Amino acid sequence: MSYKPFARKYRPRFFKEVVGQEVPVRIIKNAVKDGKVAQAYLFAGSRGVGKTTVARILAKSLNCLNPSEGEPCGECENCLEVERGSFPDLIEIDAASNRGIDDVRAIREAVNYRPLKGRYKVYIVDEAHMLTKEAFNALLKTLEEPPPNTVFVLCTTEYDKILPTILSRCQRVIFKRANNSDILQYLKRICELEGITYSEEALSLIAELSDGSMRDSASLLEQASVYGGGRIELDDVKELLGILTKSEVISFIELLLSSKVSKALGYIEDLYYRGYNLERFWETLHKEINNIILFKSVDEPESVFEDISYYESFKSTPLEALLYLEELVNRGKLDLRGRDSLSAYRLAIVKSFLIKDVVSLSKVLEAGVSLSSEGSREQEDPFIKEALSRAKRTMENGKTVFTFNEEDWRAIEDRIEELKGMYPEAEFRVIKKKSEDENMTKLF
Ligand SMILES: Nc1ncnc2c1ncn2[C@@H]1O[C@H](COP(=O)(O)OP(=O)(O)OP(=O)(O)O)[C@@H](O)[C@H]1O
Ligand SMILES: [Mg+2]
Ligand SMILES: [Zn+2]
Repeated sequence: MSYKPFARKYRPRFFKEVVGQEVPVRIIKNAVKDGKVAQAYLFAGSRGVGKTTVARILAKSLNCLNPSEGEPCGECENCLEVERGSFPDLIEIDAASNRGIDDVRAIREAVNYRPLKGRYKVYIVDEAHMLTKEAFNALLKTLEEPPPNTVFVLCTTEYDKILPTILSRCQRVIFKRANNSDILQYLKRICELEGITYSEEALSLIAELSDGSMRDSASLLEQASVYGGGRIELDDVKELLGILTKSEVISFIELLLSSKVSKALGYIEDLYYRGYNLERFWETLHKEINNIILFKSVDEPESVFEDISYYESFKSTPLEALLYLEELVNRGKLDLRGRDSLSAYRLAIVKSFLIKDVVSLSKVLEAGVSLSSEGSREQEDPFIKEALSRAKRTMENGKTVFTFNEEDWRAIEDRIEELKGMYPEAEFRVIKKKSEDENMTKLF
């Protein structure tokens, strides 16, 4: 048998094999079972989550000679031909390469012929958002009154780019991003079938790196298994992909927060000389700092993060320090233009030395709060508390700056004196709706 990459070899053949897309699968499978298939669907969702896969299973189940409960049999001539890609009534069009009106005209003409072999003609239009406007308009006519026994499935990763006129003619089916546990389930099944041994951590890392795409996860798994000679171990995966684990990135953040500059510099130089992709590392660093900030700012972090254990150690880190760090890391990214990555990042790391000043300043400010607010007024006034919790906090020239949105500001406008009392050293601003820059008004 010819060689097939994992991502293709393990494409689900039945609805029941599709992982993690319960809603889309239920919609489509029930439609087939009850004979209520729409004439046009729009499958929307991020890359590699099963849109084309489900569209093909739909084509199979509509044309299967022995379907059962909405599932295709997977064995009859029609099922096998769909799987091989040779079924004449399944037409797949990649809109990325067939964007023009002529291509759509060709579809419109072909649509008028009855199915050649099966009961239904199924058109799958991949990357449907890439069609030109004219092509879309030409397609509209067909979507409006498709001949009987024709089903269109438009697939897109960019839902926003589909014209409303098209949207209103399609039944929308939304595919969610694959989460880590869905990916793990899928990867474990492949490992079982391929006789690959693995460590849990290695698979989890692959899942984490796949960025919500099942397809990417299968490709990474395949690379890792080739690299490890049929075994998948954490160190191999890390080495192969030149990445660090989340906990290593977290440890690095801890180094920065404790102003251990020379250690942090040594660490990043070491990565550089070992050939790690520093930009990717920095990107992850930025993402994790943002996660920590979010972790500290929301009421129920459990509902935002799959695993909050990584962030617990930052519970008592002052938010100011993290915001300052975020600025540094972001600067590092911007400084990258025209420099090599190592020197851009070195500079950011050196600046992290100042964090301890930021922190002590924030302590001073906190002390100011409790002194002037006589038993914490912040607690007493829910409006002020709300507004403060939503305000953007930044540091400018050693001063804490709170920037409110207009609505929050309106709610507490008449309590300026109270606010001043709570944060005597701070500056307050409001952003009026329109654009941020034009309407930034300094209040006092
Ligand atoms: N939900 C899923 N369950 C199991 N495997 C999946 C799933 N989604 C994707 N895959 C795997 O990823 C591969 C690609 O999936 P598919 O082509 O359906 O993605 P897609 O959503 O159409 O992506 P794209 O937007 O990039 O076209 C499949 O061959 C299969 O191996
Ligand atoms: Mg696809
Ligand atoms: Zn069949």
